[in-house]
Amino acid sequence: MLRKRAFLFVFTLFLMMNAFGQNEEKFRPLYHFTPQENWMNDPNGMVYHQGLYHLFYQYHPYSSKWGPMHWGHAVSKDLVDWEHREIALYPDSLGTIFSGSAIVDKDNTAGFGKDALIALYTSNHETRVDGRRKRLQTQSIAYSLDNGVSWTKYGGNPVLPNPGKSAFRDPKVIWHNESAKWIMSLTAGDSIAFYGSKNLKEWDKLSDFGRGYGAHGGVWECPDLFKMDYKGKEVWVLIVSLNPGGPNGGSATQYFLGDFDGKVFTSYDKETRWLDWGTDNYAGVTWSNVGDRHLLIGWMSNWQYANAVPTEKWRSAMTTVRDLSLVEVEGKLYLRNFPIDSYNARFKTAAPAVAKDSRLNVLGMKNAFKISIKDVDLSRDFKLTFGNKKNEALTFQYHKNHNYFAVNRSETGLIAFNNNFPKKIIADNLIAKSACDVDVYMDKTSIEVFVDGGLVSITGIFFNEDDFEFVESSLEIKNIEIFRYTK
Ligand code: FRU
Repeated sequence: MLRKRAFLFVFTLFLMMNAFGQNEEKFRPLYHFTPQENWMNDPNGMVYHQGLYHLFYQYHPYSSKWGPMHWGHAVSKDLVDWEHREIALYPDSLGTIFSGSAIVDKDNTAGFGKDALIALYTSNHETRVDGRRKRLQTQSIAYSLDNGVSWTKYGGNPVLPNPGKSAFRDPKVIWHNESAKWIMSLTAGDSIAFYGSKNLKEWDKLSDFGRGYGAHGGVWECPDLFKMDYKGKEVWVLIVSLNPGGPNGGSATQYFLGDFDGKVFTSYDKETRWLDWGTDNYAGVTWSNVGDRHLLIGWMSNWQYANAVPTEKWRSAMTTVRDLSLVEVEGKLYLRNFPIDSYNARFKTAAPAVAKDSRLNVLGMKNAFKISIKDVDLSRDFKLTFGNKKNEALTFQYHKNHNYFAVNRSETGLIAFNNNFPKKIIADNLIAKSACDVDVYMDKTSIEVFVDGGLVSITGIFFNEDDFEFVESSLEIKNIEIFRYTK
């Protein structure tokens, strides 16, 4: 009798834990990076070294809400499958560990050793003065001689003291060959400051950029400056995240194109250009030490609601890893971003391509699939509806009269956790065209739309009770393909 009771007790406990576990896990994407548990925000310190792509990230290991920041760590051989590693950087007497970057010191400029991995991050020291929070942000460095397994903080930290600014953070460092210097781009309130150094330990101020340029609805964070090639021409790209002040509210990322002479960044124009129009691509910067490639990953959330999204046990995913490229449209240059090719090995064509009434079946795909449509006619409206029997619906549409693309998540499952969340996400001010290509990457709780290879991109998260069962198209689309994610 007693044994039977004990068995029943254990069995019920097992069922309960299982149901609970499933509930916790049902929002977890299949091919996007997520922390095993607890809070994550910005990607940090992305660098390639000795066969491994490193991804560090803003991490709070003791809660699923933002708190004292650490650098979490993961590695990958292909940027698709990630292996979780131990926490790399813990808070110390200088503060918690805010966002930053990492480089390979090939010529031992800092003296920690040839090929040392060096992380540059913000030490964020918080105190209370008259009951109000006061932050002192300085820049620090740490190094690893075993490809990121163990880290030592430099004894002379901070390497860059605070010049009296409340927002002074997110160092992104590149090697500038022409001036034989490391160049650091840094958040300096509503502009970006550039610093130069020969050894990563002593830094000189070079210049500021930003006043009168681009969007200024909030703080400029997480800058990234790098050189690209466009048909033999050198083009410098400056990526700047902005919070708040995004085109659809809250956090978003803009970019500038121009020149950099080793000291000053000069933008070609003052226009605002969004890297992504969606609400959920923030703080993205590029990998270091990947040759001519420019690989970006962003945090797939928004400060408007990141702490309230209903995943609870873990919070936030990263975007897909995206290849950046320059493209000229009507005499002007733009920066495109598109998921790297490596994902394609995981996408298998699913038949039938087009079902009769323009409904595609995505049942059983676990909400992880890709849709590619060629030559979408832009002389009239167009709408894709992702739906299920629970009447949860997510739409992507083109509105001819307004010439905009929109993602609407107002009829997806859980939306009440924040008032801004159900608002329609719009990408407008588009270059007029007669047709375009569309690629949609769906992964459990996120949609990433790419128009014309990422000339326009829209990234958004959503939280449904059930997976989608079908995709409905408002017009008969030729050349539509659907791919199931497999592993
Ligand atoms: C951007 C940001 C950074 C900062 C970090 C703190 O999302 O605010 O500026 O370093 O997050 O977690």
